[in-house]
Amino acid sequence: MVERTFIMIKPDGVQRGLVGEIIKRFENKGFTLVALKMMQVSRELAEKHYEVHKEKPFFNSLVEFITSSPVVAMVWEGEGVVAASRKIIGATDPLAAEPGTIRGDYCINIGRNLIHGSDAIETAQREISLWFKEEELCSWQKTMSCWLQE
Ligand code: RTP
Ligand code: MG
Repeated sequence: MVERTFIMIKPDGVQRGLVGEIIKRFENKGFTLVALKMMQVSRELAEKHYEVHKEKPFFNSLVEFITSSPVVAMVWEGEGVVAASRKIIGATDPLAAEPGTIRGDYCINIGRNLIHGSDAIETAQREISLWFKEEELCSWQKTMSCWLQE
């Protein structure tokens, strides 16, 4: 099975009209989109998704934020996609994120950092099954794959 990652454009990305710009960066890189949906996140899903941060002081405001307005949830596929996506996204604190990354180019505040990306292969598997049903994932071959991969 090819590597997959879970990417979510947070409410600020949708509200600011950056959905197209963000998707473009993953498409341009050459990764394959295998699932996409816009949704209003329930408190239950938000709390499960950010379970590892349950004890952190920012947990409540993070859950409030994620449930405040719709998000765009996606699954992207490709060799090395988990780590590469974290690079495309940039550091958690946008002021520390390098220019050229999504957070480095488009935001300034850690609580409004536009996008989520899974931090490891196992996390990606957990998050994909949390956000998507198996039948929502499309396995497909790009006709131009021979121009992306040797
Ligand atoms: P994400 O999970 O959203 O992709 O972000 P990340 O891996 O880069 O950062 P993580 O440590 O998992 O934190 C999750 C989200 O919590 C918010 N946060 N706020 N106020 C703070 O100190 C603080 N630290 C983290 C951020 O929105 C971060 O994306
Ligand atoms: Mg994280």
